[in-house]
Amino acid sequence: MSFIVHGGRPLQGEVKLAGSKNGTTKLMVAALLTDEPCTLHNFPSIGDVAITAELCRKIGSVITIRDGSATIHTPEIKQNKVVELSRRNRIPILAMGPLLARAGEAEVPILGGDKIGPRPVDFHLDALRALGATVEVTKTSYLARAPQGLRGASISLPFPSVGATETSILAAVLAKGETTITNAALEPEIISMVKMLQNMGAIIELGANRDIYIEGVSKLRGVVHEIIPDRNEAVSFACLAIATGGEILVRGAIQDHLITFLNAVRRVGAEYRVVSGGIVFFRPGPLRAITVTTAPHPGFMTDWQQPFAVLLTQAQGISYIHETIYEDRFAYAEDLRAFGARISVAYECPAAQCRFFGKKCNHVAAIEGPVELNADGKEFHVRDLRSGMIDIIAALVSKGKMRIEGVDEIDRGYERIDERLRKLGGDIKREE
Ligand code: EPU
Repeated sequence: MSFIVHGGRPLQGEVKLAGSKNGTTKLMVAALLTDEPCTLHNFPSIGDVAITAELCRKIGSVITIRDGSATIHTPEIKQNKVVELSRRNRIPILAMGPLLARAGEAEVPILGGDKIGPRPVDFHLDALRALGATVEVTKTSYLARAPQGLRGASISLPFPSVGATETSILAAVLAKGETTITNAALEPEIISMVKMLQNMGAIIELGANRDIYIEGVSKLRGVVHEIIPDRNEAVSFACLAIATGGEILVRGAIQDHLITFLNAVRRVGAEYRVVSGGIVFFRPGPLRAITVTTAPHPGFMTDWQQPFAVLLTQAQGISYIHETIYEDRFAYAEDLRAFGARISVAYECPAAQCRFFGKKCNHVAAIEGPVELNADGKEFHVRDLRSGMIDIIAALVSKGKMRIEGVDEIDRGYERIDERLRKLGGDIKREE
């Protein structure tokens, strides 16, 4: 499947955010912790959710989706070994906690996901071991056993990993006794999961310095929960408005989730207005070069740097993006160069405290602008979800007409993106 994009005009109007991809999939897994129904509102229709629904159904969930809401009901765990599942995302490992709690044993496939550098799961497995599980890594799977149930423990994460924090929480809520997670990730999607679990009957406290305290309970009940809007979509639409010189009201954008991004918007010379129900993004004058460094929340999120890079191609001077979460997240630079962008990537890093300092991984990008993008007649192949989205953004900023192939990867995380972009005035067509 492909998109044909004819770019070069400002995008205007308003767009409503879908429910967060990286929130929804984890909440679906959290629903496995109870034998009662859990209803999720603002449920997005995206590929990653379909992949996660397949996982939950294999495990024993009955899922009903209607009018933007989903009910996930798992009266019993029918299958606690789900190795034969597709490896298209990174969600299965999160099911280890619920499966261990309800079945005493769990086996899930080695993970897939975007190709953005090594993505080990040692923190997840160490957390499960700390909680009393035995864990074996086979050629194709992770196999964990805790026949007597998990017990509370002290888990210290070497890095505030989103997934490992989620694994720790999902495993600890039904464990016997108290768990402390130190150096936890505190992304809005994690706080949303904590709120859902709290309403299911869990006892979870957020302490200072990235500490999370959990008092295990013996049973959780059903819940009705509202999924938070997707802040990555928000950033993509914001960058589109600014880079094309248009103005977009992003309905559902929440200032609390975007504070660092909003500062970057202002520093680069663009602007935003927080209004009732959303945030408007626009560009009052020329853009200027800045440096951004990605970091765990509340820092500048790694998933924001790709759309922001397109915007930086339009800024006067040399901008830098210093990526500190993933070792290899600049493969998209090659695509931007094909659009005419001046972008180079290097491993020399300015900050001795950077976790990649001295490592030969290309985690610093320099972007010189402004450049008029033009990829008339070219064809692009989507590399991964976020860099696929920047192919679209760059194409809409560029002069000329181009084709983007492999867009089902973009559908994994962005709901009906072509339809919504057309409503903003984008000339984008889908071809089967
Ligand atoms: N890490 C380890 N060992 C582990 C876990 C993580 O070394 O056991 C390292 C990773 O290699 C990486 C860093 O810790 O260098 C951070 O990884 P993290 O665990 O936080 O990432 P994740 O949970 O796998 C989620 C999102 C990503 C997002 C990151 C960072 C989902 C499904 N994925 O990944 O989203 O970039 O957090 O915020 O929630 C995307 O949506 O396109 C995407 C890649």
